Amino acid sequence: MDFPGAHILSIEQFQREDIERMFRTADRMEPYAQRTRLTRVLEGAILGNMFFEASTRTRISFGSAFNLLGGEVRESVGMDSSSLIKGESLEDTARVLSGFSDVICMRHPESGSVARFASASRVPVLNGGDGSNEHPSQALLDLYTIEKELQARGRKIDGLRVAMIGDLKYGRTVHSLCKLLSLYKGIQVVLVSPTELLMPEEIIALLREAGHRVTITEKLEESLAQVDIVYSTRIQEERFTDRAVADSYRGRFRLNQAIYTKHCDPNTVIMHPLPRDSRAEANELDRDLDENPNLAIFRQTDNGLLVRMALFALILDVAHLVEKHEQAIHWHNPRLLTPTDEQ
Ligand code: NCD
Repeated sequence: MDFPGAHILSIEQFQREDIERMFRTADRMEPYAQRTRLTRVLEGAILGNMFFEASTRTRISFGSAFNLLGGEVRESVGMDSSSLIKGESLEDTARVLSGFSDVICMRHPESGSVARFASASRVPVLNGGDGSNEHPSQALLDLYTIEKELQARGRKIDGLRVAMIGDLKYGRTVHSLCKLLSLYKGIQVVLVSPTELLMPEEIIALLREAGHRVTITEKLEESLAQVDIVYSTRIQEERFTDRAVADSYRGRFRLNQAIYTKHCDPNTVIMHPLPRDSRAEANELDRDLDENPNLAIFRQTDNGLLVRMALFALILDVAHLVEKHEQAIHWHNPRLLTPTDEQ
């Protein structure tokens, strides 16, 4: 695909070589994300960060990624504080905001809403999550993390074995991740969910058309022994019309250190898009896993910054200029403290 000026609405837009290009661009972002080097390559550019649905990490990650490239961020948070509540159409909002911004990130509770918004926008729009449909940047950072974790184990994405666990019906991150995996070869996917919360049929079909082996089960323990990556997800309670129904699924699939030790290979990577639901009745990833070096959830969020910086750099066509626009850092960088300094 042609990155400059492109909207990023769905993983369906990408070919495998686009992903490769983006990941190698993300690798180059590491020193800037760590603040060991500073670039101002997006000086003068404005990101409109429009989040019409709850978000912490995606919103701050997009905003920080833009700031780290030297750009500025304007935000609108929540439906109640936006003019959508006064009956303004998404298209009008898009036309207005694209007059103020050079690129827009948007999250909205309706599937397809970000594409509608993009159709009326004069600047590129990045989908930060549209209802239960897709969350492309999350899937990209998930796959980037998978690549790094596997690399450390001498493996590649092709041939990966992954279990996706939880609410696979409404979970947009797993929808996008499956679409992404369909670009690779020889993947084994174990889908673990209550039957009512199965992965949508068209996404299962896509995996199978790619020649991947898909297993569907309700049994967590059985799935754990067969995989390299365990990708846990939260019950998407905000998508249920009846909260009691959502509650009835909560806590169905819990992973803790004892279960991990008993059923997983010692090197199995644990992932989650976050937020993990840590309430006692859910607790899908127990806090006792926090000491497990294979818990990659915070490496995912760190990697998210790199992937989002790469997306901005490619879409605004400055990826080749990042190093040319470096400046000196004058402030004390706490990240440069060694572990000994911290004690
Ligand atoms: C996810 C989302 O919003 O879809 N969160 C995120 O952006 N990392 C997953 C979730 O909310 O469960």
